[in-house]
Amino acid sequence: MDPASRAAELRADLERHNYLYYVLDSPEIDDSAYDRLFQQLVALETADPSLRTTDSPTQRVGAPPVSRFPSHRHRMPMLSLDNAFDEEALRAFDERVRRGLGGVDQVDYFLELKFDGASLSLTYIDDVLSMAATRGDGATGEQVTPNARTVGGIPFRTQTAMLGEAEVRGEVVMFKAVFEELNRDRLARGEQVFANPRNAAAGGLRQLDSRLTAKRRLRFFAYGLGAGPPLASSQSETLARLRKMGFAVHEGARVVRGLSEMLEFISDTQAIRTALPFQIDGVVIKVNDFDLQDALGFTARGPRWAISYKFPAEQVFTRLNRIFAQVGRTGAITPVAELEPVQVGGVMVTRATLHNYEDLARKDVREGDTVIVQRAGDVIPEVVGPVLDKRIGDHPAPSEPTICPECRSELTRRASEVVPRCPNKACPAQVAAKIRHFVTRKAMDIEGLGEKLIDRFLETGLFADVASIYRLREHRDVLIKMERLGEQSVDNLLDGIEESKNRALPHFLFGLGIRGVGDKGAQEIVQELRTLEAIRAADYATFIAIPNVGPATASELQEWFEEPDNQRLLDEMLKLGVAPTEAEGPVSDQFSGQTFVFTGKLEKLAREDAEEIVAKLGGKSSGSVSKLTSFVVAGPGAGSKLTKAESLGVPVLTEDEFLTKLPFPFQGKGAGGESP
Ligand code: IVH
Repeated sequence: MDPASRAAELRADLERHNYLYYVLDSPEIDDSAYDRLFQQLVALETADPSLRTTDSPTQRVGAPPVSRFPSHRHRMPMLSLDNAFDEEALRAFDERVRRGLGGVDQVDYFLELKFDGASLSLTYIDDVLSMAATRGDGATGEQVTPNARTVGGIPFRTQTAMLGEAEVRGEVVMFKAVFEELNRDRLARGEQVFANPRNAAAGGLRQLDSRLTAKRRLRFFAYGLGAGPPLASSQSETLARLRKMGFAVHEGARVVRGLSEMLEFISDTQAIRTALPFQIDGVVIKVNDFDLQDALGFTARGPRWAISYKFPAEQVFTRLNRIFAQVGRTGAITPVAELEPVQVGGVMVTRATLHNYEDLARKDVREGDTVIVQRAGDVIPEVVGPVLDKRIGDHPAPSEPTICPECRSELTRRASEVVPRCPNKACPAQVAAKIRHFVTRKAMDIEGLGEKLIDRFLETGLFADVASIYRLREHRDVLIKMERLGEQSVDNLLDGIEESKNRALPHFLFGLGIRGVGDKGAQEIVQELRTLEAIRAADYATFIAIPNVGPATASELQEWFEEPDNQRLLDEMLKLGVAPTEAEGPVSDQFSGQTFVFTGKLEKLAREDAEEIVAKLGGKSSGSVSKLTSFVVAGPGAGSKLTKAESLGVPVLTEDEFLTKLPFPFQGKGAGGESP
């Protein structure tokens, strides 16, 4: 056989074995036999590089590094789901769904595992993987295509036709066994271990060098489609089709009828949870039929036809070895428990919070106690309480410190608070905590700047405040000479820092670590005030007028921005090139003061696009009709909202009538969407 035909044969063979392994979970050959075929193909391709096609299985080991990830605006936003934590919330969901569908008795739901990983959106053009993007903030993600090409369960080319442009969405996970193996290796090499499989997967997807992504042996599970033509008329059929096309789809999903079968599936899944090879944190419940999904539609936050049930926190017993005082980024002093290392929810836990000294005293936790430790999802593990029967010896109850354990300043305390604080703004522990917060994922998302490195930079004087991060580049030579910091990792770090300069403003605002301002709060503030300049100029009255900003947070905000040190810090960062991306304002005020409700099927516009257009023209969209609604835009299949609009006398428009109101000609679905 000539080399070209042999290479084609090997490619087909290897792809089939990949499919058997990743999708069907039933390999026909073992790893070493696979490896032999693989090496034969590598040899042919090395001898004649023209045989190396882009869809060759040899291309799954990664490609040369890129310098940055181009951003990608999702054609259809990647939404998140509402959470339910108990049966009652599920019952309420089921009732809402049934009511929304006109009071039907029972609904068929499709129940899927909720993979605990990182979501990924794959674009296929004429059956070929052309682009992969992370979720990012839901509207815009990062293009990580070379990385996605190393992930198991993602076909380079679909097996059955999916013509045109289509998006397949799913979750990238790291299997528990891989996680443990990689952590053992990292430990042996003195490197920092991964906190959990989700971080390891998300971090793996964001490696500039895809050969490093390949080493993480990540896996993809498809859970749906994004923009593009539907493949079927229900969720269950869609996933079955995706599986035939070559995507890994987990087999644990089921169609169930009504609430009781739903609850049964959830408790069965919970029982097998730890036996699964990857982590899940719950079950996703989706109305199965797409027509019914369409009828239910979306709220501003997410679909009305789906919810995610989160498993309850896992609890374990372990010994509490020591209690120490920790200084937080706002100077708050909190007690932390040092534990005998223990696995909770697949993660090794060595420390847990004890919240505050009042709580600690109430629970009567002492050093040496056997304690119950609990961890739920992303939340920091906490000590629930001691097992008093098992208390041996009589360690004294720990007392609240009066001086800062770090800088020895005398602690102060506001009358209304349970937490004492270190008043020294230059306290090294506070500075370290501020920097740690600033670089986290929900803030500036600077990878590679871990706790140990931050401490080292503080010790060596490279760091004095968050602005110092943006001065690191000036010290590149010093960094490269530091122990265990090679040129490559320094440059990766500096690139990550550079990239963070244009993070969206809500992330930057959250990163400042102002008390009371969480990631959601930061988003709302930016939505209202839009620019950093406006936020800096705002006073108490402006802050308190923002929905969901209460009096305490409004005064924290005002105080923070008034403080001369903080003003200097902000000026400093701007001077160093930090330029957070600000929200785009409306392009006109044509719809200013008007509220639109879209209902039924829109034929020319995707609903998200319609809502975006309304926002661009200064108006608002809402999910429900009231006296305050200006217009209801109703398409075929419109139901209760249309009836309500009619009864309230709210003007109703057809989609075409809505389009004629727009100041620009509109070409139909997909127009204005950005191609990758
Ligand atoms: S469906 C509009 N299905 O959970 C519905 N999501 O809060 C979009 N996730 O960011 C999501 N397993 O990354 C869906 N079987 C599953 C999932 C799943 C995990 C993640 C997903 C998303 C988040 C939703």
